[in-house]
Amino acid sequence: MTDKELRVSKIRDGTVIDHVTAGQALNVLAILGIDGSGGESVSIGMNVPSDKVGYKDVVKVEGRELSQSEVDVLSLIAPEATINIIRDFEVAEKNRVEQTDTVRGILVCPNHNCITNADEPVRTEFEVLGDGVRCAYCDTIIREGDVAEHIDARGSG
Ligand code: CTP
Ligand code: ZN
Repeated sequence: MTDKELRVSKIRDGTVIDHVTAGQALNVLAILGIDGSGGESVSIGMNVPSDKVGYKDVVKVEGRELSQSEVDVLSLIAPEATINIIRDFEVAEKNRVEQTDTVRGILVCPNHNCITNADEPVRTEFEVLGDGVRCAYCDTIIREGDVAEHIDARGSG
C-alpha cells in the first residue's frame, strides 16, 4: 500500500478490528464501551475500499485487547471481522471472529420486566439464532437488524 492510500495510521500496541461490515464501526465502539471519555486513542475508517470485501470499516484501539464477550457480540454485527493484536507495531495475533451459540453481557434485554433488568440485575445471556438472538431468561427476541440498538451503553461485559 502506498502512502497515498494509507488512510489510518498504524498503531504501536492494541487491537485492530479489520474487515468490519461497512457502516458498523460506531456499533463496534459501542460494544467496546468506547465513547471517548475513557481516554483511549481510537482511529476509525469508515467505508474504506477493501480488496477482499468491497468496502469495510476499520477500528483501531491503542492499549486495549478485547474480552471474549466483546468478540462474541462483535460476531453478530461484523461476522467477517478480523481481530489483530498489535504489539510493538507488529501483528502479534490475527483471529477471525467466530459465530457462537450464546452471547453473555453487553446486550440489554428489551423486556423491562426481564430479570436481567431488575434492581440487582443478572448478567444478560442470549441464544444466537439464525436471524437474531433470544433472551435465555424471558425468550424475548432481538432481530439481527435491531441488535445494535440493544448494546449496553456502559459496554460492561
Ligand atoms: N495494523 C495497524 N498497526 C500496525 C500493524 C497493522 O494498524 N502496527 C493494521 C493494518 O493496517 C491492517 C491490520 O492491522 O488493517 C492487519 O495488518 P496486516 O496483517 O499487516 O494486514 P493484511 O495482511 O492486509 O491483513 P489481512 O490479511 O487480515 O487483510
Ligand atoms: Zn429477557
